[in-house]
Amino acid sequence: MQVVKTISELKSLISGFKNEGKVVGLVPTMGALHAGHKSLVDCARKENDIVVVSVFVNPTQFNNKQDLATYPRTEAADCRLLEAAGADVVFMPSVEEVYPEPDTRVFDLGAVAEVMEGAHRPGHFNGVAQIVSKLFAMVNPDRAYFGEKDFQQIAVIRKMVELEGFKLEIVACPIKREDDGLALSSRNVRLTAEQRMLAPNIFRILKESRNFASTHTVEETIAYVTDSLNALPQMEVEYYEIVDGSTMQPVRSWDASSHIVGCITVYCGEVRLIDNIAYKAN
Ligand code: PAF
Repeated sequence: MQVVKTISELKSLISGFKNEGKVVGLVPTMGALHAGHKSLVDCARKENDIVVVSVFVNPTQFNNKQDLATYPRTEAADCRLLEAAGADVVFMPSVEEVYPEPDTRVFDLGAVAEVMEGAHRPGHFNGVAQIVSKLFAMVNPDRAYFGEKDFQQIAVIRKMVELEGFKLEIVACPIKREDDGLALSSRNVRLTAEQRMLAPNIFRILKESRNFASTHTVEETIAYVTDSLNALPQMEVEYYEIVDGSTMQPVRSWDASSHIVGCITVYCGEVRLIDNIAYKAN
């Protein structure tokens, strides 16, 4: 596995692979890697000749300075995990390398980026579009892999790809969970022991809501999930929205779409956790 820190080194490696006719898969990450990331690498490993993983905590997607400052950074452990997972190249650039000058691009991401995370984290998705478009331009991958935990992010990246005319396949990989149902997240390490016991209630209540939904309206289901979680200690729902799985726009009835997903953000103490569940799969 080659660990690469500069864009020029990365580009020359990639052009060598491409000249040999190799198919390249990219797994963009912000490090603090866990089994969820490993499942993306496993997926990429099966489908490509070369697997490139980027590890970069992208400052432009953090709308909260404290969140950026406390974001976990575990580079040595990340390299060990990636080596064991069979990655070929790890790209770990500095902030100065990626942003020698401020990135002032504003992407016209439209409605998919305006709701949920877009509404609660102003600028977040523009920052994601900035870094992912830079990575796509540097690596020129045939496929790129993203986890469905960040369900809305995948729709936003698809929109950015359409806007920029990148020719690659975006592969969405299923959420990885702990045995008790908690979605794997780099932020989980910040939960206290008590919060860690409480956090699996998010997925438990989402699952229960699927039964509830069979005899209740969308509006009642939103209230059921929100009220059940808010009734628990240390839990505060930021939003729960039930949306069309492609457009991310809220649906008002279960007949509104063939793909309906509930997307939640919950504060468990200070830690912001996100998760989602499909009510109707495509
Ligand atoms: O999902 C993430 O970890 C990040 O948003 C991404 C896609 C790596 C961009 O920084």
